[in-house]
Amino acid sequence: MREKLKELEERRRESELGGGPERVKKQHDRGKLSARERLDLLLDEASFVEMDRFVTHRSSGFGLEKKKYLGDGVVTGYGTVKGRPVYVFSQDFTIFGGSLSETHAEKIVKIMDLALESGVPVIGLNDSGGARIQEGVVSLGGYADIFLRNTLSSGVIPQISAILGPCAGGAVYSPAITDFVYMVRGTSYMFVTGPNVVKTVTHEDIDMEGLGGADVHASVSGVAHFAVDSEMECLEGIRRLFDFLPQNNREDPPTRETTDPFDRQDEELLDVIPDEPSRPYDIHDVIRRVVDDGEFYEVHGDYARNIVVGFAHVGGRSVGIVANQPAVLAGVLDINSSDKGARFVRLCDAFNIPLVVFEDVPGFLPGVAQEHGGIIRHGAKLLYAFCEATVPRITIITRKAYGGAYDVMNSKHIRGDLNLAWPTAEIAVMGPKGAVEILFRKEIGEAEDPEAAAKAREAEYRERFAHPYIAAARGYIDDVIDPRETRPRLISGLDMLANKRDVNPPKKHGNIPL
Ligand code: HXC
Repeated sequence: MREKLKELEERRRESELGGGPERVKKQHDRGKLSARERLDLLLDEASFVEMDRFVTHRSSGFGLEKKKYLGDGVVTGYGTVKGRPVYVFSQDFTIFGGSLSETHAEKIVKIMDLALESGVPVIGLNDSGGARIQEGVVSLGGYADIFLRNTLSSGVIPQISAILGPCAGGAVYSPAITDFVYMVRGTSYMFVTGPNVVKTVTHEDIDMEGLGGADVHASVSGVAHFAVDSEMECLEGIRRLFDFLPQNNREDPPTRETTDPFDRQDEELLDVIPDEPSRPYDIHDVIRRVVDDGEFYEVHGDYARNIVVGFAHVGGRSVGIVANQPAVLAGVLDINSSDKGARFVRLCDAFNIPLVVFEDVPGFLPGVAQEHGGIIRHGAKLLYAFCEATVPRITIITRKAYGGAYDVMNSKHIRGDLNLAWPTAEIAVMGPKGAVEILFRKEIGEAEDPEAAAKAREAEYRERFAHPYIAAARGYIDDVIDPRETRPRLISGLDMLANKRDVNPPKKHGNIPL
């Protein structure tokens, strides 16, 4: 027995060497950690249990027959994050550039199947040169096997991707289907075709970072939800997500104890909204003053900043916050903010996370680019996402709720459960200036002093419509509240809705306008 154990020990040690010390050093020199070092940082101490460490590839040709590494370029298994089980895979760039072979794919597929069967989240740490070139179509098949599982797991278990090196070609579509994509500045990049192909086809000159680096995807394309400065920050960020997400779609999200008083009333909330209705303010100032301990984990923070989405706890409960941002483009809804909001609403709905909406929206963004870009189709996604959501849904209108955007932003009419307004709320078909231009164009044009005439009509309109009391008289708004009461009212609302059970008509799936 002891001899056999010695052999096992030796094999285990060998499986932990990766592609050898030189390649590991190269990885470190580039500011990247090894596949196992990453798992050590991601998972609770000593919780990792490895699977398939003795797997090797089955290929020959192009020199592969001579080279076999235990594990075949990916470390897989399970462990815990904050005491909760997770399945993980971590690609090892030091072995064939982390490229995906048949067996590499089989290892990932195995843990994905186990995760789906047992309702446990999957975290993928990606660092790979893509399909293993020597294996051809077998490798492509391996990717397809993963894509299928990403799709079947979507909305059942949380799937989280970290891009920690190259992620190119069709390989990008696995992270793209998952719920969260983290990228690290300077060392990770994603693209369907790299700079060389781009240069050949479109004659555009661009480097890897400019084409598909972390900041590009976090702020321009929206592919990444988080861009961070280091792998450590990335792995800590993933751990933080577990404060908010349940294990699967049949569980409620975790609660968290807080010393922040449930009846806390924040005086500063009285001064957040400027007296002048067109002046911007930062909606983060409202969010932080309302949620537990002022802690807000923003998602997609650099993309479509005219809408703010992210997680917080309110009275100990995990909530998803969707908020118009008056400080960026006056908080208007456009193509990108509609997509961003819709994806987040659907994520929260899939995982039983109540939605809290802060609304201050002047409407949809006008313009040829928006119309031709399909603002109708994209805006419809946000509307659709709110309409179909069955989780507890609370709206607080802080200021503007104009036009179609009033309907879209979790209004009572589309199954908002609790709709509150601050006394500063303005709820109408459009803002005073636009309304007066349409209704009184002739009268103003013929007036002795058109500017004064327009101002007078605007004041009249404002007095008549730009307040919350017409909506409240109809019951579209359940109450007009003192802004200081926002936190206690949210907490009592979430308590009241905790056992909400709502269902949509039976169907295979809806046809959201993609
Ligand atoms: C086999 C690969 C490989 C691959 C890298 N290697 N990519 N082996 N298949 N796809 C090996 C290299 O031969 C090298 O082996 C080691 O990994 C490190 O690679 P280097 O090139 O030395 O590293 P670096 O200079 O950092 O360049 C990294 C890289 C480059 C940019 C990722 O390796 C590269 O361009 N690889 C090919 C990328 C690609 O086109 N993949 C296919 C994409 S299409 P040694 O032994 O020297 O250490 C795709 C389709 C997916 O993936 C299908 C889904 C539908």
